[in-house]
Amino acid sequence: MPQPLIIAVPKGRILKEALPLLARVGIEPEAAFSDEDSRALRFATNQPHVSLIRVRAFDVATFVAHGAAQLGIVGSDVLMEFAYSELYAPVDLGIGHCRISVAEPAALAARDDPRGWSHVRVATKYPSLTRRHFEARGVQAECVKLNGAMEIAPLLGLADRIVDLVSSGRTLAENGLVEIETVAEVSARLIVNRAAFKLRAAELAPLVERFREQTAAPRA
Ligand code: PRP
Repeated sequence: MPQPLIIAVPKGRILKEALPLLARVGIEPEAAFSDEDSRALRFATNQPHVSLIRVRAFDVATFVAHGAAQLGIVGSDVLMEFAYSELYAPVDLGIGHCRISVAEPAALAARDDPRGWSHVRVATKYPSLTRRHFEARGVQAECVKLNGAMEIAPLLGLADRIVDLVSSGRTLAENGLVEIETVAEVSARLIVNRAAFKLRAAELAPLVERFREQTAAPRA
């Protein structure tokens, strides 16, 4: 009987795109996994030794880095924020495309010139990435760490600007914000715990390869 294999996947938008990819790789979770009302966190799959856990995006990286899960699917935003040395990210899965951007209220943007910034106060869940981005151009970034709903921060004076994920741009628009600059393009990656990859190479290397093949395969 093979050892249990746990794959961590993020709640939210990546998941919808990740499920067809997992199916192509040969992993199909039990029905409860797609039930939005289910409070279960670990799910069996069609493969008896493989289960999926559904956790927050930042926690996918934590579970895999600590070896509590062997594999995970996570946005490259998370990997840029936390440079986990325990993680190997061998495959860009080509799903979950979005970007990390700096945004500010439309009224400020109308008279703002990013070239003149020397200090910015930014609400973000990416303080490390944000500081690096601004430091690279000689701007000091003071970060207010939030875990979500960043878009409300400038309206309430918590920060002048935000650094956050932008996909359709709808959340920014509905909160009176405009994008000023792109920090990084984002897509979902397959991540693997490095120690598990060495210890269980015979099992994990072909599985990683299947992800790679299915990611590259033309879509029907
Ligand atoms: C993300 C992000 C933005 C929004 C952008 O939040 O933090 O708020 O999506 O998407 P849009 O450009 O298509 O409007 P998400 O819905 O993933 O929830 P979160 O606040 O928990 O991060």
